[in-house]
Amino acid sequence: MANIKTLAEFITERQHEFTYATGELTQLLTSFRLAGKMVNREVNKAGLAEDILGAQGTENVQGEQQQKLDVYANDLFIRLLRSQGEVCAVASEENEEIVHFDNGGKYVVTMDPLDGSSNIDVNVSIGTIFSIYRRISEGQTATMEDFMQPGNKQVAAGYIIYGSSTMLVYTTGHGVNGFTLDPSIGTFCLSHPNMTTPEEGRIYSVNEGNYYDFSDGVRNYIDDCKKQKMSGRYIGSLVADFHRNLLKGGIYMYPATKKDPKGKLRLLYEANTLAMIVEQAGGIATDGKTRILDLKPTELHQRCPLYIGSKGMVEKAMKG
Ligand code: AHG
Ligand code: MN
Ligand code: MN
Repeated sequence: MANIKTLAEFITERQHEFTYATGELTQLLTSFRLAGKMVNREVNKAGLAEDILGAQGTENVQGEQQQKLDVYANDLFIRLLRSQGEVCAVASEENEEIVHFDNGGKYVVTMDPLDGSSNIDVNVSIGTIFSIYRRISEGQTATMEDFMQPGNKQVAAGYIIYGSSTMLVYTTGHGVNGFTLDPSIGTFCLSHPNMTTPEEGRIYSVNEGNYYDFSDGVRNYIDDCKKQKMSGRYIGSLVADFHRNLLKGGIYMYPATKKDPKGKLRLLYEANTLAMIVEQAGGIATDGKTRILDLKPTELHQRCPLYIGSKGMVEKAMKG
């Protein structure tokens, strides 16, 4: 039988790869590991919880239970990050402004606590996306500048997918590794060491409902995928679509549309995170013109078009 390595063991074993104080990374990743397990527990009973609330909700107010899962996940991640001291502030999809801890911590975190949340009610895979940056500013309180760093400054990037299995996948810039949660013991175990993505793939993932809103170049590329009888796969949870394509080879696209000329996805906690992971796995990510990781953010909730996945496919898509 193969050796079993837990995520906790792996983080400790690899902490020397981290440029800064080693214990800090362990602390940071531990928060996500723990929060991931707790969100997983809630996700797995989401249908059940809704039924219970449906029966009781009208009679008594149960604030916590009534919270939507994405608010629950957001509060949980923030609570754990706040309590552990390395993180000074968080930018989350669920908070319009920066959430400050004012603790002088050396890192800031960006996150999408629950990605694909429209899929919760229908029992389809969802995820969590997170990035960690070293602060630029000094002192007790983080600044906007700390969050306006390009993605190439990420010190770690990861996601958790709550799917048929729950997995945590992360990189610190030394390759990508994936861990699957064994629910019977509540432990993430190394299941996907040194993940690499195929250079070519046969899956294209895009919301084709927007086809007539895309540019000619994007439409040409989609037509070409069809002519080549590629597989169209679109879950509508970025993490899940990305994860499948990472393993099997493919391209995920969320182009600009007439309605959303900047695209829909967010640079700080969707595109940048997955761009670092895909590059570490041998793939590429671009907004159509510029490498995602080189974009200089100007806003917390900035949107950008995203083309991400197997190198050959993304390059071809860029030629239209
Ligand atoms: P979120 O649930 O965090 O708001 O993200 C939803 C995103 C992403 O997960 C998904 O790929 C995309 O929205 C789907 O958008 P469309 O429904 O427009 O295809
Ligand atoms: Mn999202
Ligand atoms: Mn979300």
